[in-house]
Amino acid sequence: MIYLHALLVFALAIANCPFTVADVTTTINPTSNWATWEGWGVSLAWWAKAFGDRDDVADVFFTLDTTVFNSQVLPGLGLNIVRYNAGACSWNNISGDVMVVSPDMITSRQMDGYWLNWDSTDSSSTSWSWFVDSNQRNMLWNARDRGVDIFELFSNSPMWWMCYNHNPSGSNDGSSDNLQSWNYDQHAIYLATIAEYASVNWGFSFTSVEAFNEPSSDWWNGETGTQEGCHFDVSTQATVIAYLRSELNSRGLTSTIISASDENTYDIAITTFDSLGSTALGDVGRINVHGYQYGGGRRDILYSLASGAGKKLWNSEYGESDATGQELVSNLILDFIWLHPSAWVYWQALDIEGWGLIEGDNDNLTIGSASQKYFVLAQFTRHIRPGMQILDGGSDYTVAAYDSSTEKLVIVAVNWDSAQYINFNLSEFSKGGVNGALVQRWSTQIGSGEQYVGYNDTYINGEVFWSYFDNGTVQTFEVDSVVL
Ligand SMILES: *[C@@H]1O[C@H](CO)[C@@H](O)[C@H](O)[C@H]1NC(C)=O
Ligand SMILES: *[C@@H]1O[C@H](CO)[C@@H](O)[C@H](O)[C@H]1NC(C)=O
Ligand SMILES: *[C@@H]1O[C@H](CO)[C@@H](O)[C@H](O)[C@H]1NC(C)=O
Ligand SMILES: *[C@@H]1O[C@H](CO)[C@@H](O)[C@H](O)[C@H]1NC(C)=O
Ligand SMILES: *[C@@H]1O[C@H](CO)[C@@H](O)[C@H](O)[C@H]1NC(C)=O
Repeated sequence: MIYLHALLVFALAIANCPFTVADVTTTINPTSNWATWEGWGVSLAWWAKAFGDRDDVADVFFTLDTTVFNSQVLPGLGLNIVRYNAGACSWNNISGDVMVVSPDMITSRQMDGYWLNWDSTDSSSTSWSWFVDSNQRNMLWNARDRGVDIFELFSNSPMWWMCYNHNPSGSNDGSSDNLQSWNYDQHAIYLATIAEYASVNWGFSFTSVEAFNEPSSDWWNGETGTQEGCHFDVSTQATVIAYLRSELNSRGLTSTIISASDENTYDIAITTFDSLGSTALGDVGRINVHGYQYGGGRRDILYSLASGAGKKLWNSEYGESDATGQELVSNLILDFIWLHPSAWVYWQALDIEGWGLIEGDNDNLTIGSASQKYFVLAQFTRHIRPGMQILDGGSDYTVAAYDSSTEKLVIVAVNWDSAQYINFNLSEFSKGGVNGALVQRWSTQIGSGEQYVGYNDTYINGEVFWSYFDNGTVQTFEVDSVVL
């Protein structure tokens, strides 16, 4: 039996092209430790307001099950993090004051807020309505019921009535603070009250609260905005963070961390980190940054700053319009190698063609199919799981993660060159798998072609295994019996 198996392995090795003529080799480094993975996520907000009642959408994003979705067979992404958006809109009249709406505002991006007027901070008073925003909240619960265990509360703008121009899309020039200086604490009270209400009534507690969204950017313009947004100078951010810490603490939410500042790029996040001041920074439990600098920016510097200060670091928002998945793979690997985040969060998983992992129209309430990008992301999210140690994959085309409890090594690699073999050298591990053992693999072709197809055709040869990659192929491997 053993002899036959060895022969079979030998035959496959020949068929798969022997190692000696293979084209590139990457050596996984078991002594590296870039992060303990917290998970993969998505922001709710607009798509969840539109489609929060769709159980099948929740199955697709928040389980690892296979779901037939609009006649497509989809491997669930298994996301375990959601970011819930605290809305800034309400349509009530407060002693003559009503919300000002940008002429370009997109209806589906108006998120209902819970705090209706400034009369009372008491969450059981009529100043608060806990019934608004039921769809987004329903998707939140759907996510929770499917195993999501990390929840972030985030804000794109304070409630409209806290803003100078009463417009939740931003100030009239886009680059000025829009939160009234006498409402700094009110914005903190708003978010802390939602966090407290959730912990009592919603069946989970928020892990973190983020009071800003791309606050240093200058495009949060109330006269042209298409969504909620608000600029905050760094000094204002620092003041609000202090209030938020105090309001969370006074509600007993001392273990709920503050994340900041969800800047648009790595480089802006560096500037904000350097200017926030030690007091505010001391109240920040995690650095959140958005990935909109794509191939640019000093991810490495931001990582050094965050890790030097003992802070966790997330890419808390990523998105682009490339449905092929090429941009996503390229930028995600850059994040793993240079930013070393402990979590990675896609922006709107259901969105217009290109941006959505699944195509959808939040205004017309139509849903299309999953893009190739969906399957490309599945190559990562289904295998690199919470609790794993992120390792240096040894090259700019490889990501690796290790699960000590099951002694499993996960490798995800992409080939940007013409078709070739890629070798994975595990000799640096104290145990690099078992000679002759099966390495399960899954494959997706960027652009079009294979969509997360599984194969049992790859075996360890000594402490190395290899696989043939076409240009633009992403492959995931699971190697058993590996010891760091
Ligand atoms: C708001 O209510 C006041 C009365 O309290 C009324 O005079 C005013 O027209 C209302 N404004 C709007 C825009 O509905
Ligand atoms: C949504 O519907 C509107 C009006 O019916 C139409 O103009 C628009 O093109 C539709 N959007 C899409 C993406 O089909
Ligand atoms: C790989 O494919 C990409 C995208 O199609 C193309 O731009 C690139 O030239 C290809 N590289 C090689 C070496 O064939
Ligand atoms: C694997 O890497 C080790 C150490 O880096 C090296 O000595 C060895 O030659 C490599 N194995 C193969 C088969 O290339
Ligand atoms: C590969 O083998 C594993 C375990 O033996 C099995 O669970 C899995 O379904 C197989 N995958 C394929 C694609 O055949």
